[in-house]
Amino acid sequence: MSWIHDKAHAELARIREAKDKQVYPYFRPFESGGLHTTIAGKPIVNFSSNDYLGLTNHPKVKEAAKKAIDTFACGLSSSRVQATTTAHVELEERLAKWFGFPKCLLFTTGYQAMVGTIMSYADKDTTLVLDNLAHACILDGTFLAAGTPASQPEVRFFNHNSVRSLERVLSTKQREHALVLIEGIYSLDGDKARIREIVEVCERYGAVLLLDDAHGTGTLGTNGRGLLEEQGLEGRVPIVVSTFSKTFGGIGGILLGDEEVVDHVKHRARSFLFSASLPVPIVAAASTILTMLEDDGPALVSELHDKASYFRGRLTEIGFDLGKSDTHIMPVMCKDERKALFMHVALLENGVMMVPITYPGVKKGEERLRVNITRGHTRQDMDQALELLALYGDAFFVLSGEELGPLEE
Ligand SMILES: Cc1ncc(COP(=O)(O)O)c(C=O)c1O
Repeated sequence: MSWIHDKAHAELARIREAKDKQVYPYFRPFESGGLHTTIAGKPIVNFSSNDYLGLTNHPKVKEAAKKAIDTFACGLSSSRVQATTTAHVELEERLAKWFGFPKCLLFTTGYQAMVGTIMSYADKDTTLVLDNLAHACILDGTFLAAGTPASQPEVRFFNHNSVRSLERVLSTKQREHALVLIEGIYSLDGDKARIREIVEVCERYGAVLLLDDAHGTGTLGTNGRGLLEEQGLEGRVPIVVSTFSKTFGGIGGILLGDEEVVDHVKHRARSFLFSASLPVPIVAAASTILTMLEDDGPALVSELHDKASYFRGRLTEIGFDLGKSDTHIMPVMCKDERKALFMHVALLENGVMMVPITYPGVKKGEERLRVNITRGHTRQDMDQALELLALYGDAFFVLSGEELGPLEE
């Protein structure tokens, strides 16, 4: 046995324990796509999905992808440098227009879009300034940049969503340029960035703001264009990154900015240049969802908001703590790993999937169930979930906050 076997065995101790106790919650294989699916033959409703407008399974979306296979197959066997199609270019142009930016570049994932963009701009003249709850793609882009020989940027964090803390960092940074990195809606907590104040501070200090609006796209603003639309800040943030992996029902990264800002990334980002291009069936699916947003955005978004506000109201009435959430992402705080795992298992047994988030995904004491309301959930789905949450929230002391004592073997 080599050291990698020893290391893997040692580090998998927690996972083995959870599997032995039959509470390991991850990687459960779905037997079909969509919010309503089955696991091991049992019907479940998925409440941890990011298919926010419930369009992934729409017949027109699937039809468009099938048709694209006939013309372009499932892959292009190369990176965009030598595997760009008219479908990529058309969608980039339409997305730029819809979001209200001069230019758009499609990546194969949102993760790659973020890493590539950070890497393209970070150098020894730059301070990267991160919200301390920033998504892994922001952290990884930053750490890669920080590990690049001879061009390491300074890296600073500010307290989550604290404008005062951001201002302190910007006023004491060591490098000439600053790139501030935030999310529109924080994916685990469901709270919105205090973008208006953040934009003002960035403008005052001459810092460039990069907004990751992965969870705001399709969910915020009258038309679903995201946090900038909702807050009337379109034109005030120079770079936005988003994704097709939530509202757009597939996979793919979106970079928005002005001509040269995007062109620079296009010719510089290694995650763009050295990874295969987005398959055209996925481009066609996203393009179909974009048409739906163009034609019917306000109705789709307001249906999501109506459902989210119904669910939030009922959860609050029952007495659940939803942490910092002020959106359709509503973590049900359990504040104890076992409570979160037991809740998950009990709910799943009854056909409701809410994935637990535990340490190190969140700090100890902040364990929760990931609960995202989408437009695809029916009133019946929500009522069933609420009834079960109330039942097990009581049984496992999530509602009372009492300690969960030792359980009988
Ligand atoms: C805030 C945020 N940014 C970026 C990403 C990455 O997007 P993708 O799934 O397209 O790689 C995610 C997805 O988990 C996310 O939640």
